[in-house]
Amino acid sequence: MPYNKSPECLDLENLLGITEELNHIKDIDSLLDHILHNARQFCKAEAGSIFLREKDHLVFSYVQNDVLVKREKNYNKRIYDKFTIPINRESIAGYVADTGKPLKIDDVYAIDSSVPYSFNGSFDEMSNYKTVSMLTIPLITSRDNITGVIQIINPKLENNVTVFTDIHCQYVTFLANNASVAIERAQMTREIILRMIRMAELRDPKETGAHVNRVGAYSIEIYDRIAQKRGESAETIRRTKDHLRIAAMLHDVGKVAISDTILKKPARLNEEEFKIMQTHCVSGADLFEGNVSDLDKLSTQIALTHHEKYDGSGYPNGLEGKLIPLPGKIVALADVYDALISKRVYKEEWPEEEVLNHIKSESGKHFDPEVVEAFFDVHDILKAVGKRYPDK
Ligand SMILES: [Fe+2]
Ligand SMILES: [Fe+2]
Repeated sequence: MPYNKSPECLDLENLLGITEELNHIKDIDSLLDHILHNARQFCKAEAGSIFLREKDHLVFSYVQNDVLVKREKNYNKRIYDKFTIPINRESIAGYVADTGKPLKIDDVYAIDSSVPYSFNGSFDEMSNYKTVSMLTIPLITSRDNITGVIQIINPKLENNVTVFTDIHCQYVTFLANNASVAIERAQMTREIILRMIRMAELRDPKETGAHVNRVGAYSIEIYDRIAQKRGESAETIRRTKDHLRIAAMLHDVGKVAISDTILKKPARLNEEEFKIMQTHCVSGADLFEGNVSDLDKLSTQIALTHHEKYDGSGYPNGLEGKLIPLPGKIVALADVYDALISKRVYKEEWPEEEVLNHIKSESGKHFDPEVVEAFFDVHDILKAVGKRYPDK
C-alpha cells in the first residue's frame, strides 16, 4: 500500500505494545472490545464493528458507536444484537471476508454500480445514524484463514467526518493481522470453558451453556455500572471485565463433585443432602487451587461466595455485607435473576414483574443494595443479553 503523507505516523513501539496487550486478554468479548477501541482511536473514528466467521456466514460480534452512546441510555444493549451475513460479494463485509481484500470506501451512499457489493442502510435508518466513510479489513490468521472482518466508520478530523487515509489502512491492517491470532486463542479459551460447563451440565442439567453465558454477560454489565459509579479507571474496568465474565461462567463447576442422587433428586433436599449440596462452593474453589493468575483468584472467590447473602444468612461461611467480595455479590444476583426469569425442567419462568419485585424486596437481605441498584440501571441491557443467549 503506498505511503501517503499524513499527520499520523505508525509508531512501531506503540504497535508492539498493543500487540503485547492483546496477548494478555483472555475473554473473547473483551478482546474484540479492545481491538475495536484501538483501531477507532487511531483513526479517530466514530464507530466500528467486528464480524466473526462461523462456517459460511459472518456473525455480528461486537459494536461501538460514540454518537449513539451519547444519544441512547443503555447503548450497551446493542453489543448483544445478533445477526448474520452470508459470506458472498453482495455486502461490504461479505466481500472482504470472501476475497480477503480490504475495502476503503469514501462514501457508502455513492458506491459505484460497477462493483458487486452495496451498502445496507437499514442500520442507519433504524438508529438515525449516518455512515459516510468505511474501512473494512479482513482478520487473517498466520495460516491464511479469514476469521472475520473489522469495520471502522466515519474517521474525524477537527470534529468533521473525513475519509480514511492510507496510514489508517496500514494501522488497522497491522492490528487485524496481530489480532487474528489473539482472537483464535480467545475463542479456544471460551470453547474450553464451555466444555468444562458441559461436564458440570452432565451432572446438573440446570447449568447449561446458555445459562452460564447469560450469567457471565449479566455480571460484567452490572459490574460495569457499579465501577463507573465508583469512578474506577477505564483500565481497571477493562481488566476486571476480562476476568469476571470467565470466572462468573464457572460459578458452579464445583457441582461435578456432587452425586447425582442429590443433584437430580426430584424432591426437596433434606438437611443432610442440602449440607452436601453446599459443598459445591468449596469444591469449585478447590478447582482453581494454587491461585497462580488473577483469573484463578477471581474464579476461586466467585465459586466460594456466590451463595453468601448480604444479611449473613447464606453459605458456606455465612459472610455478611462488606465481607462478601463484590464479584461474589454480583454473580449471586445474576445467577438468581437468570434462574427466575428462565424456564427450567422443574418450573416455568416467572413473569418479569414478579422477578423484579422479588429482587427489589431482597435488597439488603439476599442482595447488596448497591448491586440491586446497578441491576435496575442496566436491566434493559440484561434483557438484550437474554436474547443473545437463548435456551435451545
Ligand atoms: Fe451454586
Ligand atoms: Fe448457576
